[in-house]
Amino acid sequence: MASLISFIRERNKTTPTWLKILIPVLAVGGLGVIAVLAAVVAFVVTGWLGQPVPVLGFDQTFTQPIDFPHTVHAGTGQLTDASGGLRTNQAGEPLEALGLDCTFCHRTVTTQANAGVPPVAQCSFCHQAIGPDSSEGLTQLRTNAGIIGDNPSPINWRRVYRMPDHVRFVHEPHIRYLTANPSAVGNAADGVNSAASVKPALTCSTCHGDVAAMAQVEQVESLKMGQCVDCHRDNGAPTDCAACHQ
Ligand code: HEC
Ligand code: HEC
Ligand code: HEC
Ligand code: HEC
Ligand code: HEC
Repeated sequence: MASLISFIRERNKTTPTWLKILIPVLAVGGLGVIAVLAAVVAFVVTGWLGQPVPVLGFDQTFTQPIDFPHTVHAGTGQLTDASGGLRTNQAGEPLEALGLDCTFCHRTVTTQANAGVPPVAQCSFCHQAIGPDSSEGLTQLRTNAGIIGDNPSPINWRRVYRMPDHVRFVHEPHIRYLTANPSAVGNAADGVNSAASVKPALTCSTCHGDVAAMAQVEQVESLKMGQCVDCHRDNGAPTDCAACHQ
């Protein structure tokens, strides 16, 4: 043992001074490089994870065949344009949002798996007459409805929310449960969470956000498995795999 210690002491004496200085410098420098690399990796990883995950089309919006504004149809109150000016209708009067109920157009949401998107005939009921001729969207709509020209065709709306094929989702039980248990409604409007019961349209925000305020529908909740399962656990709904997977 003693001989080993003296051997190390001997070796230490023979280590050149420049090397004694260089080793700690390299060590500190190396740590610095590692720290910088770690910072870069952390930045990339958080950036990556922070990105909307494309699987469900999260946060994606795309051009619809017709630029359909939920703001005008489902919103309430005076409408303003992008610069805050009053929007006017074709008669030049201030344009009030229509405040249509979500279920007026998404008719099967309270009874079936699918919410349903209205057929063009339901739009043309109003737009046969309502809305300016100068509107590109309405010209397209009137063409599809056969009001202009004679080739009516359905509108191929692109889906914003879409579950993978192996997942089963049904609207009906969710709307039924949430109307009777408003405290479980997410992204709720004022007063909803403390109400005894609410109408179906006030429950949609849980998964779709405030659609009435969206000029173009965009996905606001990721609706990944974790979110579905957490809510099922909190509300006594089934959490076995077969409940949601076919
Ligand atoms: C209850 C009547 C009603 C129904 C049903 C209706 N709309 Fe409208 N829509 C309106 C009114 C009112 C406006 C505002 C018109 C204006 O700017 O003068 C409007 C505006 C629009 C605009 C914007 C026009 C522009 O360029 O400013 C589009 C596009 C549109 N509607 C498409 C549709 C589609 C597609 C449907 C069917 C899914 C539909 N609407 C159903 C009443 C209705
Ligand atoms: C006048 C009819 C009308 C009313 C009222 C209406 N919607 Fe819609 N909604 C549509 C049409 C048409 C589409 C398809 C075009 C689009 O995505 O903008 C749509 C699309 C959607 C989508 C996206 C569906 C998907 O995954 O592609 C959601 C979510 C939605 N609406 C929720 C609501 C909610 C919530 C309300 C009430 C606040 C509402 N809508 C009121 C006509 C309507
Ligand atoms: C518990 C979450 C949840 C609630 C609450 C909810 N949705 Fe959905 N919605 C979804 C999911 C998930 C999808 C995608 C379903 C799929 O791809 O099978 C969807 C799809 C849709 C679609 C497009 C496809 C279709 O089903 O026709 C519309 C429109 C829609 N929802 C409207 C509504 C409206 C209106 C309400 C309120 C009355 C509502 N949703 C409430 C989760 C929800
Ligand atoms: C807001 C909370 C909530 C969220 C979010 C939610 N669920 Fe549910 N879900 C429920 C409740 C509560 C029930 C049971 C309703 C009842 O029948 O009483 C249910 C029932 C179901 C059922 C029917 C189960 C059966 O066999 O009776 C399916 C399928 C389902 N949910 C799938 C999903 C999927 C998929 C998602 C995510 C996209 C989801 N849910 C998100 C609360 C939620
Ligand atoms: C309340 C509904 C619900 C339940 C219960 C549920 N899942 Fe899922 N699961 C989903 C949804 C929604 C998705 C699709 C979104 C996603 O990828 O998170 C999914 C996706 C998956 C995927 C694919 C993941 C991927 O990366 O593509 C697997 C595997 C899976 N689930 C397994 C299971 C197993 C195993 C169970 C039972 C222990 C289970 N799930 C229970 C809703 C559910």
